[in-house]
Amino acid sequence: MNDLNSEQAIGVFDSGLGGISVVRAIIDLLPHEHLIYFGDTARVPYGSKSEETVIRFAHQISSFLREKQVKMIVVACNTASAVALKSLQQSFRIPIVGVIEPGSEAAVKSSEQKRIAVIGTASTIRSGAYRAAIRALDPEMEVMVQPCPLLVPLVEEDWPHDGVVTQVLEKYLSSFKEQKPDALILGCTHYPYLKSIIQEVVGPSVHLVDSGEETATRVQHMLDEMELLNPENGDPGKHKFYVSDFPQKFEETASRFLGRPLDKLFKVELEVLESYK
Ligand code: DGL
Repeated sequence: MNDLNSEQAIGVFDSGLGGISVVRAIIDLLPHEHLIYFGDTARVPYGSKSEETVIRFAHQISSFLREKQVKMIVVACNTASAVALKSLQQSFRIPIVGVIEPGSEAAVKSSEQKRIAVIGTASTIRSGAYRAAIRALDPEMEVMVQPCPLLVPLVEEDWPHDGVVTQVLEKYLSSFKEQKPDALILGCTHYPYLKSIIQEVVGPSVHLVDSGEETATRVQHMLDEMELLNPENGDPGKHKFYVSDFPQKFEETASRFLGRPLDKLFKVELEVLESYK
């Protein structure tokens, strides 16, 4: 890893545009870092695909980012982190960070009752990755899980304040009323956009953990330890965005998620992406 330097960009990838929530958290915390984001908009969603497929996609994107000379890769997608992180860490010789561990660590710290709930896509929940990460930190933790597959399309449709979302959440989260967790991990890139409604549904006593925000803090610590933080004396970091399909829709939704226009947006043909191993 000694070919890395602080001026290189951080690579971030997701199955689509949800990972922009992680980009936003990194920009807020590390405004001088250059970022290269890859959203696999041609092959989204990952949340309903097999492990084997998600691992293959994650390797292709990581190879693409590595070719762009990034100094670190952030797997912003919970599903890809849950199923592909270990395999990526074994294959690439740069630091690779996922969202599962930072989110689990924050939840363990905040749960006094030792009762943590996790919501995510079907694949993330099926993988058991959050449960394993939480139990590795504290074997006494009770972990309750709930897949919420309808939430991603609702967020992408920009319906966060519609009554339909509240109804869907009430149904998904009803079992937590009896199980009484005191921390709830938002284990999907899209759920931070529903934070206030989720808080209303579960009540004020449940602490919500945003895995993306926790990951941004982890990225800061790791870069600091490796002396790879971009010095704060330069201009603000530059941000480049790559997608595998439909950049117009991406631009519109991502700039809404990010709260500002995208600096640079490029499309990578799927055949090109598939040529990476
Ligand atoms: N980015 C995915 C995640 O965080 C959600 C969207 C998808 O299913 O691909 O799990």
